[in-house]
Amino acid sequence: MAQVQRPLAIQSQFIRLCCPRNARRTCSPLFARGRLQRRLHTATVTDNDIARLASLPLHPLTLADLVKHGRPPLTTSQLLTSANFTLSILPARLAHRIQSLQNLPFIVVSNPHISNIHSNYIHSLSTLLPWAEREITTLEDEIKFTEVMADLVQTHANTISILARGFLEARKYISPKDVTRFLDEHLRARIGTRLIAEQHLALHFSSQPHSEVMPEDVEENPGFIGVIDTRLRPAKIVQHCEDVVGEICELKYGVRPHVVINGEPEYAFAHVPMHLEYIITELLKNAFRATVESRMEREPIEITIAPLPEVLPETNGEDNSARPAVKNSAQGNIDIASRKFAGKSGSSSPSSDAQILPLAQSTPGVTIRIRDRGGGISPENLPHIWEYSFTTFNDDQASSTLSGHFPGGSSMDALNAISGPGGDGGHSLAGLGYGLPLGRAYAEYFGGGIAVQSMWGWGTDVYLSLRGVGRVEE
Ligand SMILES: Nc1ncnc2c1ncn2[C@@H]1O[C@H](COP(=O)(O)OP(=O)(O)OP(=O)(O)O)[C@@H](O)[C@H]1O
Ligand SMILES: [Mg+2]
Repeated sequence: MAQVQRPLAIQSQFIRLCCPRNARRTCSPLFARGRLQRRLHTATVTDNDIARLASLPLHPLTLADLVKHGRPPLTTSQLLTSANFTLSILPARLAHRIQSLQNLPFIVVSNPHISNIHSNYIHSLSTLLPWAEREITTLEDEIKFTEVMADLVQTHANTISILARGFLEARKYISPKDVTRFLDEHLRARIGTRLIAEQHLALHFSSQPHSEVMPEDVEENPGFIGVIDTRLRPAKIVQHCEDVVGEICELKYGVRPHVVINGEPEYAFAHVPMHLEYIITELLKNAFRATVESRMEREPIEITIAPLPEVLPETNGEDNSARPAVKNSAQGNIDIASRKFAGKSGSSSPSSDAQILPLAQSTPGVTIRIRDRGGGISPENLPHIWEYSFTTFNDDQASSTLSGHFPGGSSMDALNAISGPGGDGGHSLAGLGYGLPLGRAYAEYFGGGIAVQSMWGWGTDVYLSLRGVGRVEE
């Protein structure tokens, strides 16, 4: 099932992309929680701690923050700076999340699944607080800190499916609108928090001055700066996702539509591959399901990759130094969820703006159109597609299994989707109604977006736009 699979897929993809192949063996104990937890030093988190940290303005995360430590392999001092930077911003972000969970109606927070997520956040903050009291000055401490970060990332891997189940169970006590409002803020903030943590982990594993595996693996992925691939080919991601979604489709329906990629399949730009993979998987799942359910699998799903035209800043002659630096805000590279809480704009804007320039050899972004002949979305459903939990999955069976109202679909089906066949749910093309809103949250994170154009009775065009991210000047 997609919802349980999502975070795990991203997690494994992340480890595959960021953790050097050989190092995966050596660093795997980092991901063995039981072992780590025995060694974790935690602090008791009081309400005062949460209130104090949550009152701090949040640092608006920019791409400059992610790449400012340089291209891997990093030196020891660059790694320490990255660790201290990570540490300086995470506790406040966690405290904001805890506060926002606590602000839900009491009966909703009391739901065991939602309270489980709340406990995870408290646990993460309690492991970070002892670190936040000092500076990381040695490589040994940096390694230990990275273990803590790995644990933190792992702890929150299943947040989405757990929250989904919690809100489903608590649906009598909270309106779909309030759930969408909470989840939209919470999950967008989560994207940023995970990016910060994963970026440090990725930099660590691709740098490790203490590791012998580094040179070979850095050569293997020369385009990576942590979790950012500066030579990301969307067509490659599409092909990978087509295989994955195609297999699920074939298992469930016995057929799979084929995908045609046109436009500029060779186009490459800089972006976070985990995000693109997530979004494309969700959009393909929707297109495959609609195509097969309307028995149009003979018609291909057409994916057009259309790079945005490159607009270079005006220059005076050939001198690159005369090129004005592009601000992160102009590139849209601002963490929207953070900015909400950042107080006066500009007060905490990073000084590293000037380090970001448009990519010299790449266009600044891309639009990817996913066109299917799956019959489109009905006018009555269209206004709801961005709501978390809105799904038409298994609508036919819904009437017989429905226990309680769930817009456009069945709560039973959604619960089944969470449990999934055999508990892993890996065989479903739809389930909870999280694909579109969460996909859009990922797209918007760095200034992109998703627009849906439905031709009811014919098919759907989905336009995914993404901006290329900047690079560190050499
Ligand atoms: N390409 C499409 N063609 C037809 N209907 C679509 C398409 N994309 C989305 N929809 C409609 O929008 C609803 C919401 O989509 P969304 O991806 O958010 O949730 P889902 O697919 O039902 O479940 P999930 O994505 O969480 O597994 C779908 O249930 C479906 O009715
Ligand atoms: Mg979907």
